[in-house]
Amino acid sequence: MSNYYIKNLEEYFQIYRKSVREPENFWEEIAEEHFVWRKRWTNVMRWDFSKPEVVWFENAKLNITENCIDRHLHIRGDKTAILFEPNDPKEKVQHITYNELYERVCKMANVLKEQGVKKGDRVCIYLPMIPELAVTVLACARIGAVHSVVFAGFSSLALATRINDCDCKMVITSDGSNRGAKTIDLKSIVDTALEDCPGVESVLVVKRINSEVDMKEGRDQWLQPLLDKASSQNAAEIMDAEDPLFILYTSGSTGKPKGMVHSSGGYMVFTAYTFKNIFNYQENDVYWCTADIGWVTGHSYIVYGPLANGATTVMFEGIPTYPDHGRFWEVVEKHKVNQFYTAPTAIRALAKESLDFVDKYDLTSLKVLGTVGEPINEEAWHWYNNNIGRNKSPIVDTWWQTETGGIMISPIPYVTPTTPTYATLPFIGVQLALMDENGQELEGKQVEGRLCIKYPWPAMARTIWGDHKRYHDTYFSAYENMYFTGDGAKRDAVGYYRITGRVDDVIIVSGHNLGTAPIEDSINEHPAVAESAIVGFPHDIKGNALYGFVILKEIGESRKPDNLRKEINQQITEHIGPIAKLDKIQFVPGLPKTRSGKIMRRILRKVAAKDTSDLGDISTLLNPEVVEAIIKDAL
Ligand code: PRX
Repeated sequence: MSNYYIKNLEEYFQIYRKSVREPENFWEEIAEEHFVWRKRWTNVMRWDFSKPEVVWFENAKLNITENCIDRHLHIRGDKTAILFEPNDPKEKVQHITYNELYERVCKMANVLKEQGVKKGDRVCIYLPMIPELAVTVLACARIGAVHSVVFAGFSSLALATRINDCDCKMVITSDGSNRGAKTIDLKSIVDTALEDCPGVESVLVVKRINSEVDMKEGRDQWLQPLLDKASSQNAAEIMDAEDPLFILYTSGSTGKPKGMVHSSGGYMVFTAYTFKNIFNYQENDVYWCTADIGWVTGHSYIVYGPLANGATTVMFEGIPTYPDHGRFWEVVEKHKVNQFYTAPTAIRALAKESLDFVDKYDLTSLKVLGTVGEPINEEAWHWYNNNIGRNKSPIVDTWWQTETGGIMISPIPYVTPTTPTYATLPFIGVQLALMDENGQELEGKQVEGRLCIKYPWPAMARTIWGDHKRYHDTYFSAYENMYFTGDGAKRDAVGYYRITGRVDDVIIVSGHNLGTAPIEDSINEHPAVAESAIVGFPHDIKGNALYGFVILKEIGESRKPDNLRKEINQQITEHIGPIAKLDKIQFVPGLPKTRSGKIMRRILRKVAAKDTSDLGDISTLLNPEVVEAIIKDAL
């Protein structure tokens, strides 16, 4: 296990330089020494961003679950692999050992096979944060089925779109989910979705909340009786390193979500290597990432990265505020958590509450703190550092995306000196570039531009399911021979990177990526709405919240504005999910547009942020008079 841990800054620079000078040798050594392959690659990698085509570990064969489970059995079979902390603190915690995980995954894999799922088939997983979610993900990987996990907060319509886009033949769900004091009826959301999903042949249902559900004859089955009959041995399917492991949807600049397709081999190598170094995971540590497996953070840093390292990974079903605002810290104390990885939104929400919720718990087990998903503001960073890390645990501010598969910019704890709000340095093998608007690379220090990546890394998404052209156009067309991230960033005097936020039509709300287009499409479907535009505005807890500017048709004007607001938000909840609801809705006589008909969002963003002192040049607008009216009625 030679160069698996980076020990000091000098070594970081040394390894980084090697990974850039000889990427193939570098990744080959990592892949060779730290993973089990059924067959070696014939070629480490090849790439062509103009197509784009990227291949890592060409012709190699493996099964990722053999790396995440089987190979650990003889050395750490009785070690806890998944530590399940239920929503209700009074309910029993589950310690699932590697031996038990092996059995559960094999049984589930056999059930999937018996139900007719084959290598390459897509399986939709719509489950709460319960062990069955991780087990099902791994069972799909074991038999070579491509999992498409849909976050269980998405609406039936959003679920149906995702099921149909990649043509899933099976859905795995539960009767319901627990969220704080509430329960959510997941099965009926699935039932509604499936009215529009003719391709789905079967539904397997986990019992979680013991609610009454409708089971459709010939389609729906309870999972447990099937598991009870299944064998606990399953020979893993041998996969090509480039075979798709999963599809995960992310928002885009059109209404249709993008199904990012991730590979098996490269994804495994990169998520495992980043996990170990960025969280400095040691054999007996307990690691906790509070994300949901419905997002990429959960895929890479609750399931695959930790398990590929033989780690103990906590799965938490609940929410940070139930039964009170001390829940996170209670769980840290209870399980002696060593690495804790969460979102700035959660930190901001908890920082607003009394420190009594923190101080009554013993947090001395913590060694590394992490953040992900959105920029962290200075105040939240200091609160996290002072009160949770007690100025002793380094904070790793990790920048990455659904598309990148793994962490791309981050400090290495105890190695990289941190600066609040800076994600700091590129991870090993990651070649960043900042570009100006004319397509020129900005060299040197103290520059700000659009963040791009110049060279492939093993975990990058390979395509968008069913739409390779869109993959090219979205990520590889803005700058020649570069992957464009959609983010802006700054490089400071010491070469550290700070992410400044999205430069496209995506808005990050509470760490969730939301495209403006699908939300506007949803608003526009309301019978009283003629047109709409949404922008983000700064919000204390969520980072950004959504502000909608809505033009009503004549008929809408007779209704009470507050009723209309409620109806619009209700509609968004149905089309997308509650995460996309608008905080403010202003009815406007028109939207500021350029002569080519494009909405000038820059102006709307200023109105939403209550910062209209300098609107810049608005004389080129088709309808400059509308701006004054919008400012006058701003909320
Ligand atoms: O804008 C960046 C922001 O989240 C986007 C990616 O969102 P998603 O694909 O949902 O993945 C989130 C979890 C990996 C990025 O384009 N983002 C992510 N991490 C950070 C961040 N912005 C600032 N700082 C971060 N650490």
